[in-house]
Amino acid sequence: ADGDAEKGENVFKKCKACHEVGADAKNKVGPTLNGIVGAPAAHLGDEFKYSDAMLEAAAGGLVWDEDSLKEFLAKPKDFMKGTKMSFAGLRKEDDVEDVIAYLQTFPAE
Ligand code: HEM
Repeated sequence: ADGDAEKGENVFKKCKACHEVGADAKNKVGPTLNGIVGAPAAHLGDEFKYSDAMLEAAAGGLVWDEDSLKEFLAKPKDFMKGTKMSFAGLRKEDDVEDVIAYLQTFPAE
């Protein structure tokens, strides 16, 4: 991982409208992201109402490793047609790597 977690905390402001991390994280528009790096897609199972597209990707074995996260976060709707994550994506590759490094500091609860 080449990312800088401190810079990633700043990048994560773009995600906070919909996602929480940390001990008191709750699902909002988007699912909580504790432990997401290395987790299977749709990692919360029935605790969050995922799109059919996300559930199909999960059934197909998608895991959120650094490569898949990079592609998804750069252009969510290109990587996963039908996802309900309404976010255009992060244009800068450094931002993507930094936010992944930040997410890695939050293990699964
Ligand atoms: C799903 C990350 C921005 C709404 C996800 C997932 C990840 C993620 C990794 C998959 C979760 C899983 O499989 O359990 C991020 C990051 C963001 C960001 C790092 C900022 C760079 C946003 C924003 C919104 C949003 C701004 C709302 C406008 C959602 C929703 C899902 C989702 C609704 C579920 C998608 C589906 O079921 O198709 N996000 N997200 N996200 N996110 Fe985001």
